[in-house]
Amino acid sequence: MDRMYNEKVMDHFMNPRNVGEMENADGIGTYGSPVCGDMTKVFIKVEDDKIVDAKFKTFGCGSAIASSSIALEMMKGKTIDEVLAIKSAEIVGELGGLPSAKVHCSVLADKAIKSAIYDYAQKTGKTYKGLEGFDPNAEDEHEHE
Ligand code: FES
Repeated sequence: MDRMYNEKVMDHFMNPRNVGEMENADGIGTYGSPVCGDMTKVFIKVEDDKIVDAKFKTFGCGSAIASSSIALEMMKGKTIDEVLAIKSAEIVGELGGLPSAKVHCSVLADKAIKSAIYDYAQKTGKTYKGLEGFDPNAEDEHEHE
């Protein structure tokens, strides 16, 4: 049986970091989970190919809030290539684990972030290796990592 949420998940759920919208975002990405129908929107600010700020809004569950909150903390200050290399499993790891039925909620955060980077790449004409084959509108291939 799945365990309850750990303290770190509860903290990021109760006091989520980086919630909100951003004016003049350099990239905006929205991703809806085909598993549950929930949706997350991510805004990023990019300088010198680094994510200098990020915000999110989610119509998702507590795990989606916690995953987005910690994922954006993880990506701030990193280069786009470094952020693209982050796997949803690492987001779950950083949270100290999620109940298995809730792992797809971290995929929601991960894909919304990658969609925002995709948007940035489209607008600036940049290409990133980590975006190869990424389609923001693709159905989730049910990542199990
Ligand atoms: Fe939909 Fe968690 S159940 S994001």
